[in-house]
Amino acid sequence: MTSPAPVAIVLAAGKGTRMKSRDPKVLFPVLGRPIVQRVVDAARAAGCAEVVVVVGYEADRVKASLDGVEFALQPGVQGTGQAVQCASEALDYKGRSVVVLPGDVPMMTPGMIRGLIDQHEGAITIGSMIPDDPFGYGRIVRGDDGSVLRIVEQKDASEAEQTITEVNTAIYVFDGDFLFGSAAGERGAVFELDTENKQNEYLLTDVVGIATQRGLRVGAAVIPDPAEVAGVNDRAQLADLERETRARIARHWLREGVSMDDPATTRIEEAAELSTDVSLGAGVELRGATRVGEGAQIGKGTVLRNCVVGPGAVVGEYVIATAAHIAAGAEVRPFSVLSGLNEKKPAESVEEDRVSVGEGATVGPFSHLRQSTQLDAGAKVGNFVETKKSHLHEGAKANHLAYLGDAEVGARSNIGAGVITCNYDGFAKHKTTIGEDVFVGTDSHLVAPVRLGDGAFIGTGTTVTRDVPADCLAIGRIRQENKEGYASRLKSSLKRKADAAKARAAKR
Ligand code: UD1
Ligand code: CA
Repeated sequence: MTSPAPVAIVLAAGKGTRMKSRDPKVLFPVLGRPIVQRVVDAARAAGCAEVVVVVGYEADRVKASLDGVEFALQPGVQGTGQAVQCASEALDYKGRSVVVLPGDVPMMTPGMIRGLIDQHEGAITIGSMIPDDPFGYGRIVRGDDGSVLRIVEQKDASEAEQTITEVNTAIYVFDGDFLFGSAAGERGAVFELDTENKQNEYLLTDVVGIATQRGLRVGAAVIPDPAEVAGVNDRAQLADLERETRARIARHWLREGVSMDDPATTRIEEAAELSTDVSLGAGVELRGATRVGEGAQIGKGTVLRNCVVGPGAVVGEYVIATAAHIAAGAEVRPFSVLSGLNEKKPAESVEEDRVSVGEGATVGPFSHLRQSTQLDAGAKVGNFVETKKSHLHEGAKANHLAYLGDAEVGARSNIGAGVITCNYDGFAKHKTTIGEDVFVGTDSHLVAPVRLGDGAFIGTGTTVTRDVPADCLAIGRIRQENKEGYASRLKSSLKRKADAAKARAAKR
C-alpha cells in the first residue's frame, strides 16, 4: 500500500530582523528568485500534495509573490511553533506526513526533501547537519544510545550543549496526527507548546521533547551538504550563498563547453540554457529563461533577461536586452538597449511586445529598440536610432539618428539620418506605412497617418503630410535663394550691433 502524499508547511511569517530591512527576509532574491519562492518550488517538486505558506510580517507582499499555494496568517508572529499551529486548519493532515520547511533556507533541493520523507517513521524525522560553525543553530541533543532527546536553541544551550556540532536545519517530517492531533482525541503536540524559554516564543523545536516524553520515536538524518540547507539570517550570508551558487553554475557551464573571460564575475541564473562554444565576456549576466545558441558571443558587461540568442549571433559589450529574440548570425553592437516589454504593464508582457532581430540583421552601436520592434533578415538599425512598435522588412535600413514609431518599413527601403515619424498628436498614435524600395531623404518628417508607396523618393528635409503614391518624388521645402556679396555685409552689420551693445554695457 502506498501512503498518501505528504503535505507541506513553509514558515515565512518572520520579519528577518537580522537583515536590517523594511522588506521581509523571505522576499530577498538569490540569483533572481525570492528565497520563499525557491522553498515552495522545492516542496512541490518533492511531491508535496498541498503547500501552505504561513505569512505574518508584510503578509500581503509575501502573498503577492507566490502563485498556486494556500496561505495561513500568523497573528503576532510569536515563534516557529505558533506558525505551525496556524497552518493546521488549512491542511488535510490526517493520516499524512507533514513536511515543515523554513522559509529562509533557499538552496534546499527536492531530492533532499524526498530523501527525508522516504526515511521518515514514527513521530518526527529531523533534517540535521554538521556545519563548519554551529553557532546560532539549535543543537540536536542525543542520549547515550544515540537517540534524539530534544533540540536546544543557541540562546538556551548550556556550555556543554554548545559544543554539540550536529544542528537542526529546521526541515522536518512529522506524523500529521502527532503534530496536530488524532481522530482518537490525542492533543496535537504543537498545541502543547509554551513560551518558557529565553526568546519567550513558541518554539517548534520543543515538540521534539514532547514526543520523547510521550515515548515516541524521533529520528534525525544528517544532510551531508551543509550548503544545501544553510539558512539566511543576514545579508552577509545571503551574499555568500549567492556567490557560491553563481560559482557552482559557472563551473557547470564551463564543463559543458562554454567559455568565460572571468567566471567569477559572470552571473548565470538557473533557468538559463547555453550551448557549446558560447563565449561570455567578463560581467555578463544571463537572467531568467535566457537561451544562447551554439557559438554565440556575448560581450563584456552585457545583461540579457528572458532573451533568445541564435547560433553564431554576436552581442557586443554593454548591451542591455529584455525579452528580445536575436536570430542566428545577427549582430547587436555595443551599448544598445533592447526592451521587448510593454512599458506600461511589463508584468503582462506577451509575445507581440517582444523585440526580434532577424537573421543577419545588425543593430547599434547605441540603438534603442523598444517594445514590439521587428527587424527582418538583413535589416539594419544604426546609432542613435529609436524604434517602437515598428517593423523593418528584409534589408530595410535606418542607419543614423532616427525615430520610428508605429511604422511599417518595406523591404530594402532606406530611412535617412534624422528622419522622424511624427506618430503622436498629443492624443492618439498613428501609423506610418512605407512601401518597398522607398528612399526617405535625410531630416524628413513623416506626419502620421501617412503612406509612402513602393519606390517613392522623399527629398531631403521634406515634411510629408499627405500620402505619396508609388514611384513618386515628394519634395516639400522652401526654395533656396543665393544673394551675391551679402555674407560680408551681413557679418559687418552684426559685428557693429554687438560692439555697440558692449560699449553701452561698459558705460553703465
Ligand atoms: C530555526 C530553528 C533552529 C534551527 C534554524 C535553522 C526554531 C525555534 N529554531 O532558528 O533550531 O537551527 O532555524 O536555520 O525553530 N518564522 C515564522 N514565524 C515566527 C518565527 C519564524 O514564520 O514566529 C519563520 C521565519 O520567517 C523563517 C523561519 O520561520 O523563515 C525560521 O525562523 P528564524 O527566526 O530564522 O529561526 P532561526 O533562529 O534561524
Ligand atoms: Ca533562520
